[in-house]
Amino acid sequence: MISFHKMTCQDIDQVSQLENKTFSTPWSRESFAEMVDNQNAFFLLAMDEERLAGTCGIITVAGEGDISNVAVDEAYRRQGIAYKLVKEAMEVASREYAVTEFTLEVRVTNEPAIKLYEKLGFASEGIRPRFYEKPVEDAIIMWKR
Ligand code: COA
Repeated sequence: MISFHKMTCQDIDQVSQLENKTFSTPWSRESFAEMVDNQNAFFLLAMDEERLAGTCGIITVAGEGDISNVAVDEAYRRQGIAYKLVKEAMEVASREYAVTEFTLEVRVTNEPAIKLYEKLGFASEGIRPRFYEKPVEDAIIMWKR
């Protein structure tokens, strides 16, 4: 059974491990520690008992929510976890942080993620050229308004 909770200091080891194996330019442990202390941001975690299955970060500014670090452990993919996790994170952001619009960037070649975001109601509103490194790639900017 998957449950959701906000990241605390106790979760940082597992979150960092998933981040390092998922992304080519991973966030540092310090960045996650700052997120725990940031009043305008939170990370929602999908947990299988004590084991981390997925992460979704949202940084909020003046009613806008910037979604980042969406990752599901390979062992848990294609089970609907990312869909439920991001949806729940957006509900938390609306309820607790008065967020009304959401945005994110995604690599132009990342078809699984683009499909996920479209299923969640996001639409492309433009391209940020060479936004990513390792490898260098354009980002699609998506919004859900
Ligand atoms: N191919 C095509 N579509 C896919 C897909 C794949 N491999 N994986 C997910 N999707 C799409 C589908 O539309 C799916 O809906 P469906 O099952 O009705 O077809 C929808 O996403 C939801 O899938 P879900 O099972 O919730 O996704 P997931 O839990 O497997 O996680 C990612 C999806 C993208 C988060 C996961 O593949 C991942 O961690 N990838 C590496 C990190 C990453 O790219 N993060 C996004 C950065 S912007």
